[in-house]
Amino acid sequence: MIILFYDAKKYDIESFEKEQIKYPDIKIDFLDTDINEKTAVLANGYDAVCGFVNSDLSADVLHILWGQGVRLLLMRCAGFNNIDLEVARDLGITILRVPGYSPEAVAEHAMALALSVNRRIHKEYIKVRENNFSLEGLMGINFYGKTAGIIGTGKIGTAMARICQGFGMKVLGYDKYPNERLDFIEYRELEEVLRESDLISLHCPLTVDNYHMINGKTISLMKDNVVLINTSRGELVDTGDLIAGIRQHKFHGVGLDVYEEETDNVFENREGEIMKSSITARLLSFPNVIVTSHQAFFTEEALSAISRTTLENAKSYMAGETNTANLVE
Ligand code: NAI
Repeated sequence: MIILFYDAKKYDIESFEKEQIKYPDIKIDFLDTDINEKTAVLANGYDAVCGFVNSDLSADVLHILWGQGVRLLLMRCAGFNNIDLEVARDLGITILRVPGYSPEAVAEHAMALALSVNRRIHKEYIKVRENNFSLEGLMGINFYGKTAGIIGTGKIGTAMARICQGFGMKVLGYDKYPNERLDFIEYRELEEVLRESDLISLHCPLTVDNYHMINGKTISLMKDNVVLINTSRGELVDTGDLIAGIRQHKFHGVGLDVYEEETDNVFENREGEIMKSSITARLLSFPNVIVTSHQAFFTEEALSAISRTTLENAKSYMAGETNTANLVE
């Protein structure tokens, strides 16, 4: 099997080449550029393409890939909201992903964001470097004894819930399919979780029915001084309404690893550019907001699990034994 790997970064190449030694029947060509309507033709002659969360796998791109003979999409990520699933299904393109490479990596980053924004570590780091040792503007809140609200209690949500429990927090959860085995999570309706939580962390996938689930109405239900963390998908939050809420002093802190206009930014160095849109800049102007760039997954353990599972997916597909747990339908 020959795989065309789009948008390959140095760390991807290192991690996949290390793992590839164990798969002599698989060859990978790495490309700098990401997949889109112009670059999809480069897949001519390849059996599979390997994409990521920000790859353009819309209907037009899938048609081009199909025309080049590609029948397999290997997603080196968990999320797949960037793929037109209906078109992929109609064309008979198989999609395999890496559902749970390291839930703890993402959950630990969610808590890192929560702690940093709560205790204003991002402000203090800069202040102290300038010999400013005042405590002005740094007041935090204890998480101990407070309530955490976990929206989506799958693999990452469960890991985050465990971390919150370890901090001595009461843990509430909302999920379309509650997991009764998680007896330390008290399941409630979404509105109740939003009303009662001091720390709200989003861990559900983006689907057609939860686009902008955090909006003006749901923000108004939240406690004043709440901490909101999103490591899931940007479109779960209506950014305009979030900014309005921040301006109304609703939030003690907001930590975002994902945000609505991230697609062009993800993993790119755009230092020298004049940005067309100002939403990210506006978010960054608030002292109680931290934005990271889709880095929650980025640990050594997660990267090796991603390359291992992606190559295992390719191998099982070749053998006609597709792992249904990793299949996107
Ligand atoms: P999972 O599939 O194990 O869990 C998702 C949970 O959300 C399931 O329990 C499901 O029942 C629930 N759910 C689905 N729709 C819902 C809704 N409308 N409301 C409430 N709950 C709902 O997925 P996992 O591995 O925990 O990942 C969660 C999300 O985290 C992914 O979909 C992805 O968007 C994001 N992610 C972010 C990363 C990052 O680096 N920032 C890395 C990996 C994943």
